[in-house]
Amino acid sequence: MAEIRLENVGHSYDGGATFALNPISLTWKDGNAVALLGPSGCGKTTLLNIISGLLTPSVGRVYFDGVDVTDLDTAKRNVAQVFQFPVLYDTMTVRENLAFPLKNRGVAKDVIATRVDEIAELLNITKYLDIRPLKLRSDLQQLVSLGRGLVRNDVPAILFDEPLTVIDQNFKWTLRGRLKEMHNSTRHTLVYVTHDQTEALTFADEVLVLNQGSVVQSGTASELFLSPQDEFVGFFIGSPGMNFLDGKVFDGAITVGSTQIGTVDGSSKLDNGNVRIGIRPEFLSLNTSGSGISVKINRVEHRGGYKMVHADAKEGKFVAKLGTESTLAAGQSAHLEFDAQRTFLFRNSKVCGTVNIKGAK
Ligand SMILES: Nc1ncnc2c1ncn2[C@@H]1O[C@H](COP(=O)(O)OP(=O)(O)O)[C@@H](O)[C@H]1O
Ligand SMILES: [Mg+2]
Repeated sequence: MAEIRLENVGHSYDGGATFALNPISLTWKDGNAVALLGPSGCGKTTLLNIISGLLTPSVGRVYFDGVDVTDLDTAKRNVAQVFQFPVLYDTMTVRENLAFPLKNRGVAKDVIATRVDEIAELLNITKYLDIRPLKLRSDLQQLVSLGRGLVRNDVPAILFDEPLTVIDQNFKWTLRGRLKEMHNSTRHTLVYVTHDQTEALTFADEVLVLNQGSVVQSGTASELFLSPQDEFVGFFIGSPGMNFLDGKVFDGAITVGSTQIGTVDGSSKLDNGNVRIGIRPEFLSLNTSGSGISVKINRVEHRGGYKMVHADAKEGKFVAKLGTESTLAAGQSAHLEFDAQRTFLFRNSKVCGTVNIKGAK
């Protein structure tokens, strides 16, 4: 249980030619659950290993509760880490594997026995306690590995590196819920690496979105969804992500081709020039009577509680998430309608100024 602070921490594996993690500074409050989210290769494991001490950063300092731990190895930092694939001792039973981190710290036998039972119950592995782990399926082995990470109460932080990758889809949901419950009661500082947005958004108090070695935005699930600050967040978060189209700003008017779609929000003055316009499928409507950018409905998918409508325009392809009451059908013509509060303008991939479009049609 600790506050974790990074001061200008970055890492290069090739002596400074390229940075797998560009220098960042951040503070995670004691007891928070933080997710590191991003595509493969964006630097998540590098950042996690810097925190655990498996990797010494090329630049910057790491602090736990204000104490500089940059030069301390993993054992001295006393953190628990769970890896993507199981790390277990096969000379021991599952029970002994779970007990091992506690036994190592000289915890009393009866305390160990109670704690091991608790963790086994949390993870649904009680009936395997007296078996050797290599006899188990790989997902059960991973649960045991997870248990070894969770069993100690006295660690400053628990670090997970994509721990649910091999767990079956149904149990993942249950397990995520249980981890969240556990976190609510123990308030360990948790750092959770994943490339799965659902996992990150349901699990964490704060999500850091990484792309190509940089943190592009950090925030709550709803901040990332409702107010993306970077095109990458718009594209990566959401299912599917934002629609984008190219536009121009001239004296506050926003046009796509020859169609004016609105004006820049009055509180920000935007220089004339090109912009990228981003709108999530949830905030895009299709109107059969209005004016605006013309589209042809290409495909309508019925998804139970909503419809996913795919539309083509000469400006690009668009997806709108509409209610089941929508009667739009493939082949029909329609016009795009933007939600005035949820349409964003980007320049150099960053949101520029105050970005809502007012008076959008
Ligand atoms: N030990 C290493 N030596 C050299 N390059 C590495 C090493 N580990 C990771 N990288 C590179 O650093 C970048 C970030 O990797 P990583 O942190 O593992 O990403 P992620 O966990 O997000 O998939 C990638 O380009 C990867 O190829
Ligand atoms: Mg990784």
